[in-house]
Amino acid sequence: MEKFPLPRLDTDAELRKLLTKYCRLTNGEIWRDPVAEHKIACIDSTDSKAVKKLMSGKVAALAIHDPPYNFIAFDELKEEQFINWSKKWIKNSFNSLDLNSSIYIWLGADYKNHFQPFAGFIQMMKQSGFASRNFITLRNQRGYGTAQNWMSVRQELLYYSKGAPVFNVETVYTDIPKILKGYYKEVGGEITENIKRGKSEFIRPGNVWVDVQQVFYRMEENVNGCFAQKPLKAIERIVSASSNEKDIVIDFFAHSGTTLIACEKLKRKCFTADIDSVFCEISIRRLERFRKTGKTGWQNSNPFYEEIIKDNEIKEYLSVKHKINY
Ligand SMILES: C[S@@+](CC[C@H](N)C(=O)[O-])C[C@H]1O[C@@H](n2cnc3c(N)ncnc32)[C@H](O)[C@@H]1O
Repeated sequence: MEKFPLPRLDTDAELRKLLTKYCRLTNGEIWRDPVAEHKIACIDSTDSKAVKKLMSGKVAALAIHDPPYNFIAFDELKEEQFINWSKKWIKNSFNSLDLNSSIYIWLGADYKNHFQPFAGFIQMMKQSGFASRNFITLRNQRGYGTAQNWMSVRQELLYYSKGAPVFNVETVYTDIPKILKGYYKEVGGEITENIKRGKSEFIRPGNVWVDVQQVFYRMEENVNGCFAQKPLKAIERIVSASSNEKDIVIDFFAHSGTTLIACEKLKRKCFTADIDSVFCEISIRRLERFRKTGKTGWQNSNPFYEEIIKDNEIKEYLSVKHKINY
């Protein structure tokens, strides 16, 4: 169980404001990692000048973006507004990416509202300059929904590219053993079965990922307060397949800093951004904690625990508003 939980920060602007005094970055500032050359910017990713400053003349091999989905968390915009907003950060991504590069975008579809913003987004991408490459579904084990509809268990991941990007297919395997024996083929005079001929005894994930657990509070990588966290395993899979060591990977919606941690583990340089200084601080602290302890999250605590226990205003706020007592 959580000992020192934080409530959802995305829906609590007041708590984010109370935590701002413990954050290193203010609007427009960039944190430069002295160890592995990662960068974290507290900027609006639709702002082309701010993104240019973050890139400082460099280009990335890979972009992994996970914007607010426009119906679950954060503020909801009209679909047209969301698409116009997306056009801007997509353009900034195009300008920040190398001639041969990949871009992955996590996005949801509101089933109750004509699959917005997903439907409009894929139409908009036709004019983006990126080529469409694949449409991946991550199948959650735990779902939500009612008895009157199919349980929602999917997360959509769009894959586009520019030029001819790297794809390290040999890195991409699941932990699921091949179990279906099937066809036989004669190789060098010997009749062999397909499992014997394969490069691995495990199956490839393909474009339906069934082997990734979504983040929940019992997992070590859980970052209390961050409701929209993506699983590290999924991000590591993308980073391994679509970039090489020392490459720059961008993520314009850092939140808990999952792409940053994946890049640290896999020796890539991550240039990431979040509009909110609290999420920038959480990302920096998550990296620092990982380096110090090898832990990827705060399963029984939270990134601001040390400050909160000494801050009566926040303790009072958590107790009254959320019934969380420190
Ligand atoms: C869905 S979360 C990303 C989750 C992330 N993949 C993770 O694993 O933690 C979206 C994040 O985008 C940030 N955001 C929203 N609008 C933004 C903007 N215009 N520029 C930069 N960040 C923005 C939010 O503050 C939020 O932290």
